[in-house]
Amino acid sequence: MRLTAVFTGAAAAAALLAAGATAHAADTPLRDLAAAKGKVIGTAVTGSKLTGTYGDIAGAQFNSLTPGNAMKWETVEPSRGTFNWAEADQIVAFAQAHNQQVRGHTLVWHSQNPGWLANGSWTPTELSGLLQNHITTEVTRYKGKLAAWDVVNEAFNEDGTYRSTLWYNGLGSDYIAQALTWAHAADPSAKLYINDYNVEGVNAKSTALYNLVKSLKARGVPIDGVGLQAHLILGQVPSTFQQNIQRFADLGVDVAVTELDIRMQLPSTDAKLTQQAADYKTVMDACVAVTRCVGVTVWGFTDSDSWIPDVFDGYGAATPYDENYAPKPAYRAIATSLGGTSTPPTGACTATYSVVSQWNSGFTGQVRIACSGASLSSWKVGWTYGAGQQISQAWNATCTQSGATVSCSNASYNGTVADGGSVTFGFNASWSGSNPVPTVTLG
Ligand code: G3I
Repeated sequence: MRLTAVFTGAAAAAALLAAGATAHAADTPLRDLAAAKGKVIGTAVTGSKLTGTYGDIAGAQFNSLTPGNAMKWETVEPSRGTFNWAEADQIVAFAQAHNQQVRGHTLVWHSQNPGWLANGSWTPTELSGLLQNHITTEVTRYKGKLAAWDVVNEAFNEDGTYRSTLWYNGLGSDYIAQALTWAHAADPSAKLYINDYNVEGVNAKSTALYNLVKSLKARGVPIDGVGLQAHLILGQVPSTFQQNIQRFADLGVDVAVTELDIRMQLPSTDAKLTQQAADYKTVMDACVAVTRCVGVTVWGFTDSDSWIPDVFDGYGAATPYDENYAPKPAYRAIATSLGGTSTPPTGACTATYSVVSQWNSGFTGQVRIACSGASLSSWKVGWTYGAGQQISQAWNATCTQSGATVSCSNASYNGTVADGGSVTFGFNASWSGSNPVPTVTLG
């Protein structure tokens, strides 16, 4: 009943879409769709951003949160014996206030360890003591509050051998069993996972993980699940994805897709966004199809809070929402897979701002105005800069800036945006310090 109401309210949806930000406000939230299927739909979050539109969407659309960085060793114990739980506590409190699960991430990893630990010289006994103490302290702090922990992260090389890390080199492969055992002792109710990337399909790495889980189960080590990170590339969802989830499930453990994103070479185009939606749907469908797949977490829900552009030069647009918090086709694909309707709201034109290239003091930006089920005969786009950016030159639009407020309107030749069409204009601007993406309104 509720779904019917959603998309017959086309006029309301169109009005919201024209305003940009909360464009899906009329949709059934993903978390309600997921809950009806007994699944988790989660997102990684940054604690300091959990206000405004970011906080609204994180709270309304997802039934699980994973701290993107806040529970990592370098964050919680930057110097030995000095603990900083502020961001982790904030995320847990937000989740409790919004009736959400929390997935703890991560206790044992080779990366994002504090310098004092990573650069120290430790005997095996000292190292073991440090690890036990870390796990016991952190898991105890959140005892009873977390649904699951990614206890061990990224233990394997691509060929299925163990990764050479502080832990493996100092303690041997049994650091994994020990970590799980200590975590279980500290919080017997949390589901304990081993998490890794490039283990989504059947391959040497996932088979090594499979064999490890099998042997841990046989030894009675407390292992509840396997996390498949799923940092995927457009058009490259492994064909054995569902089969791989199923083989882990058949071992008697849960499976979670823990860090889903699907990156593309920038700029994004309608064709790429359509392919991305199909890829998101493939991943979601595979999880929905396997009972022991507990759910899917995206690694950041908006393109403005994604690690991809920082690490993969020229790539981005990997999440279900664009940088202005407008839901992308991938959002609707997730909803469809969870049983929502596949019909997009009609009567929508949206404006999307992106930084195309950036150098020490300047950058080139662009704004794309796209219509679907609607059209425009003229347009005007506005935004407010939050960090002192200043436009110096624009093309394919007339732009003025007064203080922080920018207003751009169509040139004589590109006022018309047809149904299904788009128009793009560009500009050069200066920046210093930071260059956050503003929220754009289309008037
Ligand atoms: O907090 C500092 C800030 O003070 C400083 O100004 C800024 C300058 O670069 O850096 C900030 O730290 C960054 C941190 O994210 C918080 O934003 C680090 O440089 C950056 O390296 C770090 O990246 C994180 C990455 O793990 C590190 O490997 C990403 O946010 C985080 O999303 C990512 O997550 C990992 C998962 O834990 C495991 N699987 C892979 C995934 C992607 O790398």
